[in-house]
Amino acid sequence: MIRIEDLHKSFDGQDVLRGVSLQVETGEFVALVGMSGSGKSLLLRHVVRLIKPDSGRVLVDGRDVARMPRAELEALRSRVGYVFQSGALFDSETVFDNVAFPLREKTRLGESEIRRRVMTELDMVGLKDAGAKYPAQLSGGMLKRVALARTLVRSPEIILFDEPTTGLDPIVVNSILALFEAAHQRLHLTGILVSHEIPEIFGIVQKVAMLHEGKIAAVETPETLQASPDPVIDQFVNGKLEGPIRYR
Ligand SMILES: Nc1ncnc2c1ncn2[C@@H]1O[C@H](COP(=O)(O)OP(=O)(O)O)[C@@H](O)[C@H]1O
Ligand SMILES: [Mg+2]
Repeated sequence: MIRIEDLHKSFDGQDVLRGVSLQVETGEFVALVGMSGSGKSLLLRHVVRLIKPDSGRVLVDGRDVARMPRAELEALRSRVGYVFQSGALFDSETVFDNVAFPLREKTRLGESEIRRRVMTELDMVGLKDAGAKYPAQLSGGMLKRVALARTLVRSPEIILFDEPTTGLDPIVVNSILALFEAAHQRLHLTGILVSHEIPEIFGIVQKVAMLHEGKIAAVETPETLQASPDPVIDQFVNGKLEGPIRYR
C-alpha cells in the first residue's frame, strides 16, 4: 500500500504540492490526472525518493520512504518499476539489451535465465521479433511497449508510470492500455499511472485521483468522476474551455 500524507513541496517560493494526501491500496491501479505543471511527475518522484518532501510523508507498506536507511530504500526500489516521462531507452543498445539491462545491472542471474525472462516479456508486449532492433527503428508505440517490458522484467510489485501513452495515436493508446490491464491482472500490481488519456485510462483503473492547485481535488471511481457535478472536475474531465480552471 502506498500512503501519501499531507505532502508539501515548493521550489523558489512556488508552492507546487500543498498538502497532497492519497492512498493506493495493494493491488489497485490509480490514474493520476491533472493539468500540465500541476505536479504529477513530482509526486511520483517522491514515492521512490528521487526527491524528498518539505513536509508530509510517503509511506510504502507503512514505512516512511524519506527516512529509510539506504539498504531499505534500495530494497524498495527493487520492488518498484518506475518509468518517468524522460525515461528513455538507450539508443545505442538493442531492444533486447534495453530490456535485459535491469536484470544485468541489479541481479546475478545467468545469461540464459536473462534471455528467457526478456523473451517472455517481449512476447507479452507483442515484440518478440524486435529484440535485435534499435530504438530508432521503432514507432512511438513500440518504444512505450519496450519501456513497459523493461519495467515488468524484474517482476515489480508496484509500478509508477508517467504518461505511458502520451503522443500516440488512439488505437495504439488502447493497445498499450490493454497491456497494462493484462500486466495488472497477471502480476497483481499496485500502480499509479499518470495520464492525460481521458476517458481511455478510466477503463483500466479502480480509482482516479485529480491533482489540482497542489492538492488532490478528488479521488473517485471512474464512473463517479465522470458524473461529478463539481465544476473543476467536470471542466477537466470533459476538456471544457469555460470553467473555474485557469489555463495558459
Ligand atoms: N526539481 C525541480 N526543481 C524546480 N522545479 C521543479 C522541480 N520539479 C518540478 N518542478 C516544478 O514543479 C511544477 C510541477 O512539475 P511536474 O511535476 O513536472 O508537473 P506535471 O507532471 O503535472 O506536468 C512545475 O512548475 C515544475 O517546474
Ligand atoms: Mg509530468
